[in-house]
Amino acid sequence: MSWLRLLARRECFRLSPAAVTHPIPPDITVCSECELQTLVVSIHFQELSFVKQFSLFSLGCRREGEPPLINGWIPYIGKALEFGQDANRFLDKHKRKFGDIFTVQMAGKYMTFVMDPLLFPNIIKHGRQLDFHEFSNKVAPMTFGYPPTNSGKFPHMQEQISRSFQLLQGDNLTVLTESMMGNLMLLLRQDYLGEGAGREGCWRKSRMYEFCNSLMFEATFLTMYGRPVTAPRHSGTSDLREDFARFDSMFPLLIAQIPIGLLRRTKTIRQKLINYFLPHRMSCWSHTSQFIKRRSEVLEQYDTLRDTDKAAHHFAILWASVGNTIPACFWSMYYLVSHPEALEVVRQEIHDVLKLSEVEFSSDRDVTLSREQLDKLLFLESAINESLRLSSASMNIRVVQEDFSLRLNAERSVAVRKGDIIALYPQSMHMDPEIYEEPQTFRLDRYIQDGREKTDFFKDGQKLKYYLMPFGSGSSMCPGRYFAINEIKQFLCMMLLYFDLQLEAGQSRATLDSSRAGLGILLPAQDVSFRYRLRAV
Ligand code: HEM
Repeated sequence: MSWLRLLARRECFRLSPAAVTHPIPPDITVCSECELQTLVVSIHFQELSFVKQFSLFSLGCRREGEPPLINGWIPYIGKALEFGQDANRFLDKHKRKFGDIFTVQMAGKYMTFVMDPLLFPNIIKHGRQLDFHEFSNKVAPMTFGYPPTNSGKFPHMQEQISRSFQLLQGDNLTVLTESMMGNLMLLLRQDYLGEGAGREGCWRKSRMYEFCNSLMFEATFLTMYGRPVTAPRHSGTSDLREDFARFDSMFPLLIAQIPIGLLRRTKTIRQKLINYFLPHRMSCWSHTSQFIKRRSEVLEQYDTLRDTDKAAHHFAILWASVGNTIPACFWSMYYLVSHPEALEVVRQEIHDVLKLSEVEFSSDRDVTLSREQLDKLLFLESAINESLRLSSASMNIRVVQEDFSLRLNAERSVAVRKGDIIALYPQSMHMDPEIYEEPQTFRLDRYIQDGREKTDFFKDGQKLKYYLMPFGSGSSMCPGRYFAINEIKQFLCMMLLYFDLQLEAGQSRATLDSSRAGLGILLPAQDVSFRYRLRAV
């Protein structure tokens, strides 16, 4: 169930039209599907006042120049449930009926979808009137458990935090990349290349998502937060990872702003995760990245922040740094392993890049790939971008700051209202057959042309400025994107250099779990079995 359906469900408890005439008893049992076991809901009937109902529905009257409105027959919930079942199909259907721009009433919100990617640049450049942070500043603190940063209690915190994102790029990216390489190698050696691990042509079996998760979670953690002063690895990482997975499975519910107290053990689990980052614990870690060090310094400036609030900020960054990267690793590995001919091309490319630096790879030795070497891996990058295209379903959201006429191109404008949401849903573009021939098919060289990165993609005969958007857009674009791509490259290089890899026979194809539609890289609906053995090189 997608987070928007959940949002509708949550709002449904708050403002169900049925509740107007049929008061809901205070204890209600709801859908086991979403694990909201027993909700103790106190319905605030004053919220159901006529005034609120009236103002809500009066929003439905269109003003001149506004896009067509799709309301749905269920008051308030509108189209949220239908959208949540299959967002892509829903948007495609309405695009055919209403054209490139339409407003959908969902869970009491008015969301204007701009479907034509040729119009994206004009939306993205409207930073002042279309704001991203209004949405994220509300949702992120509730989800991760820290006080809102824009409440006036923490002057300049938001700017300082945004400035710290620079430490994920430029020269710092080189340092992060080197550190990640060392950490991946350490884990691979200790856990997968040790005595008896797949040696002498023996195949070992594993679950692919589990494998990616285990390696990438710990390597990213060590790279970002560092390691204990006295040991190369933290004890208890697998417990941390399991708690993280439990929290992560509730992520769509939390983003839908379901109060955490209603989600069974999630609050306890979140607190456990937060406690991991308490300042007295982090002060015992060494090799912490500049990015995390800087964030700690910023947080230390605010006396009103409790230790647990500071820890919650660090926990939020843990989610940002692994929540999408791990599923992205999975899909990149899955598509390569399920296309052996593509995998061979990429493997050869990695060996070629190593040879250019006069490195002869041998599985007895540790391998290092510098940032410059990673940049040369065109086929690998294309494979990763293609996997991101096929698996990402992030929604770019902007909140309208004032009533104004939004210019879309030389001929067109639409009227938008303060408080409405403008949404871009790049998955529709990623799956558009006019832009991407056979969009459901994985093509290794989709992003390569004449031996260089391909950047020419067209719609209606016009070149697109934005054609691949797994990392969002404009001012809210993911600051960790370069590091993420490098990490995924490093992971795949190691897999392909050290191991032969095969899918176990007799499995159906991996499919996307759409419960996170709108929130980033989708997870696989079920894990995939594969086998690996050390390569004889
Ligand atoms: C494949 C991996 C990743 C994907 C697909 C991804 C995607 C995204 C997206 C879609 C956003 C929101 C942008 C928007 O709504 O316009 C975002 C924000 C963010 N990402 Fe990533 N991300 C990835 C990896 C990372 C990594 C590795 C880090 C950090 C090390 C990171 C740090 C962040 C942060 C801090 C934000 C919030 C930015 C802000 O508040 O302005 N991400 N990411």
